[in-house]
Amino acid sequence: MFEVNISQDIDTVNYRSLAQQLSGLLSGERDFIANSAQFSAFIYQALPVLNWAGFYLYDGKELVLGPFQGKVACVRIPLGRGVCGSAALRQETILVTDVHAFDGHIACDSASNSEIVLPILKDNRLIGVFDIDSPQLARFSERDQAGLEGLLSIYKESTDFPVM
Ligand code: SME
Repeated sequence: MFEVNISQDIDTVNYRSLAQQLSGLLSGERDFIANSAQFSAFIYQALPVLNWAGFYLYDGKELVLGPFQGKVACVRIPLGRGVCGSAALRQETILVTDVHAFDGHIACDSASNSEIVLPILKDNRLIGVFDIDSPQLARFSERDQAGLEGLLSIYKESTDFPVM
């Protein structure tokens, strides 16, 4: 069985070690759904104080719920709506210290207080976003953003995306 090293402390998450573990986990498999499911489970297991982690995938029109860990969530998000739709439209990471202060935030789970959404771009094409929610205010730092962008790069390099 593959063991994920879980960090208890938000400030000491070892992203270098997580990058090595993720490379090992995804090596030898390029299937889009399998790797996306593993990636969301890996993030949810490896990072402390989360209540949701998963994909919203761009279908050419809007974002549609993909593989995730956590409670059931809203299924469709138009581009430009909420944190996910804004990150997809702007094609940049959005780090939200307090979701209640973000204009247009979509509350899927009332437990969420902070959030980070990373866009997934492959060869300039929008694949979707990866959304991570926390019940703790200001859970995500710029260090987390850099670490997560690195992990997302490993996922992208390890995966074949469907041709649309
Ligand atoms: N909070 C998100 C919606 C997705 S759920 O949190 C899973 C947003 O505003 O985009």
